[in-house]
Amino acid sequence: MSGNNYASPIESILHEGRVFAPSEEFRARALMNDPAEYERLWRESIEEPDAFWSRVASELHWFQPWQKTLEWDCPWVKWFSGGQLNLSYNCLDRHVASARRNKAAIIWEGEPGEIRTFTYQQLLTEVEKFAGVLKRLGVQKGDRVAIYMGMAPELPIAMLACARIGAPHSVIFGGFSASALVDRIHDCQATLVITQDGSFRKGTEVKLFPVVEEALKACPAVQSVVVLRRTGTPIEMQAGRDYWWHELMATAKPGTRAEPLESEHPLFILYTSGSTGKPKGVLHTTGGYSVGTYLTTKWVFDLKEDDIYWCTADIGWVTGHSYILYGPLQCGATVLMYEGAPNHPQLDRFWDIIERHRVNILYTAPTAIRTFIKWGDEHPNAHDLSSLRLLGTVGEPINPEAWMWYREVIGKNRCPIVDTWWQTETGHMMLAPVPGVVPTKPGSATRPMPGVLAEIVDKDGNVVPDGQGGFLVIRRPWPGMLRTIYGDPQRYVEQYWSQIPGSYFTGDGAHRDKDGYFWIMGRVDDVINVSGHRLSTMEVESALVSHPAVAEAAVVGRPDEVKGQGIVAFVSLNHEHREAGMLPGLKEELRKWVSKEIGSLARPDEIRFTEILPKTRSGKIMRRLLREIASGGEIKGDVTTLEDFSVLARLKEEE
Ligand code: PRX
Repeated sequence: MSGNNYASPIESILHEGRVFAPSEEFRARALMNDPAEYERLWRESIEEPDAFWSRVASELHWFQPWQKTLEWDCPWVKWFSGGQLNLSYNCLDRHVASARRNKAAIIWEGEPGEIRTFTYQQLLTEVEKFAGVLKRLGVQKGDRVAIYMGMAPELPIAMLACARIGAPHSVIFGGFSASALVDRIHDCQATLVITQDGSFRKGTEVKLFPVVEEALKACPAVQSVVVLRRTGTPIEMQAGRDYWWHELMATAKPGTRAEPLESEHPLFILYTSGSTGKPKGVLHTTGGYSVGTYLTTKWVFDLKEDDIYWCTADIGWVTGHSYILYGPLQCGATVLMYEGAPNHPQLDRFWDIIERHRVNILYTAPTAIRTFIKWGDEHPNAHDLSSLRLLGTVGEPINPEAWMWYREVIGKNRCPIVDTWWQTETGHMMLAPVPGVVPTKPGSATRPMPGVLAEIVDKDGNVVPDGQGGFLVIRRPWPGMLRTIYGDPQRYVEQYWSQIPGSYFTGDGAHRDKDGYFWIMGRVDDVINVSGHRLSTMEVESALVSHPAVAEAAVVGRPDEVKGQGIVAFVSLNHEHREAGMLPGLKEELRKWVSKEIGSLARPDEIRFTEILPKTRSGKIMRRLLREIASGGEIKGDVTTLEDFSVLARLKEEE
């Protein structure tokens, strides 16, 4: 548990000179293909944000028009005050009233291979019915609903039903453990949980209901559980609390209307890791989030009416919320959704899906791309990928080699790559190329989106010269920004608005090149990015310390070829367990312990036992030193504040 060392300089080492303009063929068909026009709109979005955002917002349906586009009393914001809308209406009803009524909204493929397609009308009917079910179970506008599911089509149905009646959802990734579930359910005080018996992944079942059941022993406030039958594994339901989805839906009628909601009505809470303490419940509200996800989806993915669009994220993360569900459906897109793993039954599953469904746009993560590189080119090469016209990445910095592989092997040098930088907190893309007008450079998320005033500053908030590393901050409010940390406004102010007063602090280091392109250099706080998912070092440490053998733990990230970052834990054991430390079995036990406490994503790649941890005189663990040791590098930089110099030598010995 150390303080942030924001004062340390960030060195920029990446030098990448390649630039790729869109092909003439792509540009000619692109929605936005005049660079001067894009420049004009971007300027307008900064200089006259009201005019710009009002125009975008008016492409959506409002039950009641807004009176004020933006009210900003830093760090508190309101977008489209006085306006009333419903995101489920904008995703569904609006299209059903148009020629899109019978267009496929979701094409879903299960891991075992079954395919289910929902047209906009069919999806609306299911959502209306499930919204009625929620009401019948007593869910009212404003009540929180926790959702713990796999990638079944009923997951988006459940989310849209919540949005329809104004009940904020909190989707908890299906890989999280029971205790992670307890923390989140408690924090948002959900009274209803939606789950399923299990989900299919890598040919086996990921059990979900049993995890919920265990969690609920510690969550007495939960009154009802709706269970989708997916795998068919027998489960024991508790009468009066647990209900089968299919039984409730059998008697449900369509017709539950979309509730007109105030623009600032809470839409969802999504938990993410911060640098300290328990996970943060990032709160997003209706109007701004709708407008921001709508615009960015339309422009960055350059959506065409006949496209099949596939985002490979899990809906349990923000990417799934914004770019599987809400952005694309507001645009009337056809979304492909896949339930399972990329290596089932073979290593070519993704390419097989693209070939069979003729996918046009693929949005995935650098960690997946690096895995595919490792698996070998023969897998994509065995398939016809000619339907692809645009590729995207998100979640972590992409190394130029992986970017080039994506371009050459998957995109066959035809498809632009949109590298999109954003966060759970930002709600939608912040830095990204609009592909018909912004040439791309391998490894850069290019330039700020409209309405985004991004700058790179030093610790005092002064803009640093181009080419020099610094902290990425956002100077102006944007529509999809988080409104607060649920139940903890103080933390919202401290974490995001206090490092550089008046600016949103992203927690990322970056530099800008002479063309105004941004290059993200990773986190500057105690957050590790494993496979594109944020984990707080503090959470992993807390999990370790809760094991009876552990006295103290410090967790750091180290570069990992596939996952971006791997986790190394330095652990000192209690006296009576020191001997046990000699047993390799304890290392494995601790790794499993963390999996059980948080989820397998957080399992340390390596545990190192150490007698003591390096600390400053004020008692803070010197994580920077541990990071250097974990990466096998030399200890550089300043160690003068170290309390006990012999620790360093001993840590090296204990390697
Ligand atoms: O460090 C940045 C990295 O992921 C963090 C946000 O993580 P999360 O809230 O889980 O959201 C991930 C999906 C939006 C950022 O602070 N990150 C995300 N996208 C990129 C990125 N780093 C570099 N390039 C990106 N395109």
